[in-house]
Formats: sequence, structure tokens, C-alpha cells
Amino acid sequence: MRNLSVDGARLWDSLMDMARIGATPKGGSRRLALSDLDRQGRDLFVGWCREAGCAVRIDRMGNIFARRAGRDDTRSPVVVGSHLDTQPTGGKFDGVYGVLAGLEVIRTLNDHGYETEAPIEVSVWTNEEGARFAPSMIGSGVFAGVYPIDKGLSCADVDGRTIGEELQRTGYAGDVQCGGWPIRAYFEAHIEQGPILEAEGKTIGVVTGAQGLRWYDVTVGGMESHAGTTPMDRRRDAMAGAARMVTAVDRIGRETPDAVTTVGEVRVAPNSRNVIPGEVFFTIDARHPDGATLEVMDAAVRDACRSIAREAHLELRISDVTDTAPVVFDRDCVAAVRRAAEQAGYGHRDIVSGAGHDACFINAVAPTAMIFVPCKDGISHNETESATPEDLAAGCNVLLRVVLDAAES
Ligand code: HGY
Ligand code: MN
Ligand code: MN
Repeated sequence: MRNLSVDGARLWDSLMDMARIGATPKGGSRRLALSDLDRQGRDLFVGWCREAGCAVRIDRMGNIFARRAGRDDTRSPVVVGSHLDTQPTGGKFDGVYGVLAGLEVIRTLNDHGYETEAPIEVSVWTNEEGARFAPSMIGSGVFAGVYPIDKGLSCADVDGRTIGEELQRTGYAGDVQCGGWPIRAYFEAHIEQGPILEAEGKTIGVVTGAQGLRWYDVTVGGMESHAGTTPMDRRRDAMAGAARMVTAVDRIGRETPDAVTTVGEVRVAPNSRNVIPGEVFFTIDARHPDGATLEVMDAAVRDACRSIAREAHLELRISDVTDTAPVVFDRDCVAAVRRAAEQAGYGHRDIVSGAGHDACFINAVAPTAMIFVPCKDGISHNETESATPEDLAAGCNVLLRVVLDAAES
């Protein structure tokens, strides 16, 4: 394998070109899954892949696969990718980096006329973020058999529009079966979205796995009544009850070592300043690297919400949205990432991902590993998310090496 290197400037330019689609005032990106802006980003990516000589196919969940043929096209492909959808106030690199790093690998091989034995495919997974449609990682989840296709297509946003309808509207309702075909190996390059690599001055994170996560939808029912005339001891205030539950969720996260708990979305009805709220909806995101501890947190969250509801004479409904166990990536793929980082001379360390990724689901159907690079101050899911061209190129060089490793063996 000749010592090929990627074109870091071209990778950076592609990231900046993509960032112009859905650019936000503070320098971030807003391309919610299957919005018009997400479609524009997908169209830009597909155009680039066709220019690079790839055959592009779309599956029934709108997952995109750009294929570069190998000498032996009967072999299972090496797949690299991530997601193009973003958070409402997302950054320029979360997900996008893994997709465009995959494209840069293809472009680099084209530059050198390098033909691999096995085909290579760059993938874009639908609705990784789960910001518009819950649960998250639905495209890779259906692909990996975690969710049935009907569930995937029927996920609806807050306005009742489904993924199936939005795939049709944006022209990404593919006809290819979602999943069920062999992958030689899957690698995903991603910014760490946390502070460790930067703090330790390491360029590459050799991702050995990811923590488990649980998502819940909570609805608290009280009674709407007049803010001025209803005495405090005669209220069934859904907001006051929900606020106590949110505080309990935060306390469970702080009191459980290595845990994180977040309430990120709240909707109040009727949401009028002089009406005591009759109903509050909120979401819970709970995560931990250990499955058994996550179980304990699950029980603690449910017990806390139930006892608060009982004391305050409120109705309570908790529905499970996502239950993703902690993941351990494939040993050989992880070793290939570590070896590639060493051979390239990059400082590296093993790391467990705090964030969920499509790789966590693909790990169930293909040998999988991830490559992390640092991001400034560990900030992500924030418009100020930032990474350096040098680190992004380094991660892409590691991706190139592991792809060639897998495609030639
Ligand atoms: O929520 C996550 O961990 C991912 O960024 N979607
Ligand atoms: Mn991501
Ligand atoms: Mn994300």
C-alpha cells in the first residue's frame, strides 16, 4: 500500500461548501433531517460523488450509498460514512466530517488511480440526530434490523409529517431494500464532541465503543385554571410538577458516577402566562457506559417521577423512545485504527464515545470501528463547534489507511 495522503485543503473546502447550506448566524449549521436544506446538502453530496465516478443508490429509508467499484466487485464493500442532518443549532462538523472524509478517501484514490480489490462505499444515514424525528439513528437502525421499516417510515415530527412522506417530498424515497446485504467493514470518522483528546493533546481517538443511552417522552397532566384566582393549595399545576421531575432527573445524573442526564425539550399547554399549565411534555436523555447502571438509573427516574406525580395529584405517562445498550466495537477494526494512527505517527488514545453514532447500530451487522479527532473545547451540538484542518486531515488519513487495509485483505 503506497503511502498515500489525503488532500486536507480539498476536504476542508468541501466541509465549508457544505456548511454554506443551512448556515446559521453564529457560524453553525441547521439542516434538520429531510428538510429542504437537508435535501440540498444531500444533492450536493450526491453530485460530488457522481463527479468522483461513484454509482449512487438510495434505499427505502433514504440512506445514500456512493459506490467506487473494486477489481473484484463481487466482494463485500468496505463502507465509510456518517450523517448530514444536524441539530437545530448544530455545528459544521458533527456527522458531515465522516461523510466528506469518506468522499475524500475516494477522491484521493482517484487522484492516484489506485484500484482496490474490494469496492468502497460512502454512506449517509438518514435522521441520525433525532432532533426532528425521534428516535435518533433511525436510518442506520432500520438498516441494522433494530427497527422495522414500517416504524422507520412512520416516525412523525411535531407537525405530524412522517419520514416516509418527507422522503417522497425530497426525492430520497429509494427503492433499494434497507439493509440485509454484507459489509466487509464499516468505519466512521467523527469529531469527539467531548474534551478528552484536546485536553491530552492527542490527534486520534481510537474508539473502542460507546455508552448506552435511553430516551423517554414524559407527559404530566394537571388542570388548567386561572393564575390569579386559584389558591396555591387548590392547584394541579403540571409545570410545577414537571419542574420538580426535571430537577430529580438532573440530581440522578449528578449523583451517579460517569452518568449524564438531560432534559432538552419541553412543551407546555396551553402555554399562556396567566393559565396554570394543564399539561407539560418533556424529554429525558439518560446515558451511562455500563448497562446495569443504566438500569438502576432507569428505575430511579421512573420512581422519582411517579412519587412527585402522586404527591401533586398529577397524571403521568412515561413512554420509552430509545433503549440502546453500551456498544463494544470490533477488536480487529479497532486494532486497525490504532495501527494506522501509529504508522501515520499521530498521538492517539483509546476512548469510549459519549455520543451515539450510526456506527453503534451498524456494529450489529458488520465489523465496525470509529476514528475520533478533537474539537475545540470539546463543544458540539452548538453553532460554535470547531475543529482544525490539520486534525480533520489526520483523521481522514487514518480512515484512508484502514479502508485500504480492509479493501485489500
Ligand atoms: O445524541 C447523540 O449522541 C448523537 O449526537 N445524535
Ligand atoms: Mn454525529
Ligand atoms: Mn450529533
